[in-house]
Amino acid sequence: MSKILYENFKDYFRVGAAVSGIILMNDAEREELFQKRKAWFEEFKKNFKPQPGMPEFKFTEPEPFPKGEMPDKQLAATQFNLLVAENECKMSNVYRGPDQFDFTGPDRLLKFARENNQDMRWHTLVWHNQSPKWIFEDGKGGKASKEQLEERLKHYIMTVGARYKDDICSVDVVNECISDKNFILRDGADRSQWFDILGPDYVDKAFIWAKEAFPNSSLVLNDYNLEIIEGKRQGMYKLVKGMLERGVPVDTVGLQMHINIQNPPVSEIEKTIELYASLGLKVIVTEMDISAYVDKDFEHPDPRREYDKAFLDEQAERYAQIFDCFKRYAKQDILKDVILWGITDRMTWKNNFPVPGRTDSPLLFDNEGKPKPAFDKLLEL
Ligand code: XIL
Repeated sequence: MSKILYENFKDYFRVGAAVSGIILMNDAEREELFQKRKAWFEEFKKNFKPQPGMPEFKFTEPEPFPKGEMPDKQLAATQFNLLVAENECKMSNVYRGPDQFDFTGPDRLLKFARENNQDMRWHTLVWHNQSPKWIFEDGKGGKASKEQLEERLKHYIMTVGARYKDDICSVDVVNECISDKNFILRDGADRSQWFDILGPDYVDKAFIWAKEAFPNSSLVLNDYNLEIIEGKRQGMYKLVKGMLERGVPVDTVGLQMHINIQNPPVSEIEKTIELYASLGLKVIVTEMDISAYVDKDFEHPDPRREYDKAFLDEQAERYAQIFDCFKRYAKQDILKDVILWGITDRMTWKNNFPVPGRTDSPLLFDNEGKPKPAFDKLLEL
């Protein structure tokens, strides 16, 4: 393919992609991971407690990974100038025990990025999901103490920084810390064991340590639905405004941008970017995809749809309008990066979220790795 996505936007912003670790692995490494997943899955099923109000949960058994090279790898190497690990840099994959780190996944991606002259970001240092269980425990059947957890978190951030600070251009320091219920910090009742044990100042502390660990990287507070839910957008505004007033070194708001074919309108995206820019912060788009489904709730998911020409053209038009908006803010030196959450539709997390097993078509390349109309349209911008 002679048409290169990132080159088309190089005067405006970097164009990045989240890379699933398996596309970089060989068959033996994939098989080993599959066996581990099977074991985790059995464990998960055994311990699963449904949340109140959730419909019956359908477990999807892990399936063996495809063999051989996948189209995603070549596309990752050629179409993007910024990479991020879809899962490999999350704490549960790296921080295996109080003094035990596994850097296999991050190293594999960094090597690939270097070979292809690409920048790399780190997702993510602190998140209520995909954190290791042991970190919240005292090893005697109880909860870790505040001091213990704080020390572990600081040790983690410092260790990761010591290894990667010169290679990572930007870091999602804290991910998804705003509650969808009241738009203030997510607490213990809302699944944040970080808040539960450390209290509300864990966010400030994580940024202060991250600044020490990654002195030259951009430090990002990342969240979803900021461009969709006005209350949450304002909640983030209050949080970062307070952080700036306290001298906490946050410099960028990350908009995940998991959106759909209808919502939000471009005008809401503009409002969101402008709100954070008004504080002097930069904005990046960290996890963009455009789902075919306008989900209202878990119990009545939209019927499975055809990804026909009408849909693909509509999606292309929507991608183009939004990227056009991104260009306008890049010109004003506000928007810096746009990262897609995946490469081909075959590999997208949306095939299992929010409805397990319902496939989606949210990205720029189809299941076979062929460019969709959205890709072609972006190259015309
Ligand atoms: C998702 C990955 O894409 C999945 O493979 C994984 O099973 C769960 O996490 N917001 C985030 C990302 O910040 O880390 C999530 O990634 C998607 C939502």
